[in-house]
Amino acid sequence: MDVVESIADVRRWVRNAKSSGKTVGFIPTMGALHDGHLSLIEAAKRQHAAIVVSIFVNPTQFAPHEDLQRYPRPRERDLELCRNAGAGLVFYPAVETMYPPGSSTFVEVKGLTDRWEGAIRPGHFLGVTTVVNKLFQIVQPNAAYFGQKDYQQQAVIKRMVRDLDMPLEIVTCPTMRDADGLAMSSRNAYLSADQRRAGLCLSRALAEGKKLWHRGTEPQEISQVLQQQIGAEPEVHLDYATVADVDTLEPLESRGMMAVALVACRVGSTRLIDNDLWQS
Ligand code: PAF
Repeated sequence: MDVVESIADVRRWVRNAKSSGKTVGFIPTMGALHDGHLSLIEAAKRQHAAIVVSIFVNPTQFAPHEDLQRYPRPRERDLELCRNAGAGLVFYPAVETMYPPGSSTFVEVKGLTDRWEGAIRPGHFLGVTTVVNKLFQIVQPNAAYFGQKDYQQQAVIKRMVRDLDMPLEIVTCPTMRDADGLAMSSRNAYLSADQRRAGLCLSRALAEGKKLWHRGTEPQEISQVLQQQIGAEPEVHLDYATVADVDTLEPLESRGMMAVALVACRVGSTRLIDNDLWQS
């Protein structure tokens, strides 16, 4: 496995891979890798012979009060995990490589970024779409892999790729969960045992919501149940809980064939998000 820090080295590696007939699967990450990331590498390996992982804690997607400074950066462990998982290249750029002095161009997806994570974290998606766009320009993969856990993120990226005619496939892979049901996230490392138990209210509420959906309950009523359940958990601050359209992410007024339940809360200073897709 090669580890490079410069854009020129990534381009050279990808050019060589493609000229030997390989297609490139790309997994953009912020490191602190867990089994969710490794499942993305596994999915990419099933379709592509050349696997590129980027590890970059992107400052433009964090607000000043958020956890940029304390975000975990276990470099050697991450590289070992990538090597064992079968990545061919890890791109590990410095901040100045991704944002040289004077950088002033951003990519914005409007509308889809207004609600939910976009409302709670203003500017977050502007940072995400800008850095993901830059990474796509650098790596030029045939496909990129994202987790369903960040449902709004993958929807926003799909929209960007469609709107800007980017020549790659976006693949969304299922959320990986710990045995207790908590959706895997690098931020789970911040949780104490008690906070972790409290955070399980998200997956519990989603399970209850799913039962109601299959009994034919209207989406707005389910949204209320989700909000009550999460809101009733001591030590948990509800950010949002809704049953929404899978494409527009607007709250569903009435039942259709499909829905996505989106939930988010804060436990102490740690934000947790989760979601579930429901079919009629
Ligand atoms: O999901 C993440 O880890 C990040 O938002 C991403 C897509 C790597 C962009 O920094």
